[in-house]
Amino acid sequence: MIKACIFDLDGVIVDTARYHFIAWKALADELGFDFTEKDNERLKGVSRMTSLDILLEIGGLDLPKEKKEELAKRKNEHYRSFILEMTPDEILPGAMKFIKELKDNDLKIALGSASKNAMTILDRLELTSWFDAVIDGTKVSNAKPDPEVFLKGAEALNLPPSECVVFEDAEAGVEAALAGGMKCVGIGSPEVLGKANLVVPGLHEMDIEKLSRL
Ligand code: BG6
Ligand code: MG
Repeated sequence: MIKACIFDLDGVIVDTARYHFIAWKALADELGFDFTEKDNERLKGVSRMTSLDILLEIGGLDLPKEKKEELAKRKNEHYRSFILEMTPDEILPGAMKFIKELKDNDLKIALGSASKNAMTILDRLELTSWFDAVIDGTKVSNAKPDPEVFLKGAEALNLPPSECVVFEDAEAGVEAALAGGMKCVGIGSPEVLGKANLVVPGLHEMDIEKLSRL
């Protein structure tokens, strides 16, 4: 019996990938190499420092730790200048309706995100009070596909993983959910998220009925 849903944030509840892209691209421009939207796909679900490593690999650069920390800090400041302007209008279609439906049916809700900016984003979207637990990048040491973020979510809700369903847009996130013993709904395309128990294009295609059939 499903008693809770654990949501990834970026790409599931809100589309922050374009803000990450602008900020990473500015850094690549400054360092003198090209960074495309296709490259940006590789950064989805990946932690900030791993994202930087991938970016530098694309640019063929190997930089010392202090320089990398300075670049990551600057990228984050640029990124935060966008998210600090976010409004609830940016919540992806169907997300609010589905969250309300879950609550009306007494299901618990948690966040399981790699982002250290998750709390800022939830606040800007006026979503914080809907969540019974928030596990973000400040609370985990092992990145997806390690299941830590979702296991901590289930633990915070006081539920076994088998009673939780994860919603994820990144392949590593789907793998993390399954590795944690949870069902997973992929948000996006079946080609990328084929391992999930169900794939839908967005939360506007989800309802309690589909959830109960998982
Ligand atoms: C994930 C995003 O949710 O958070 C990644 O999909 C991002 O693209 C990661 O790199 C870390 O985000 P932040 O906000 O801590 O830099
Ligand atoms: Mg995501």
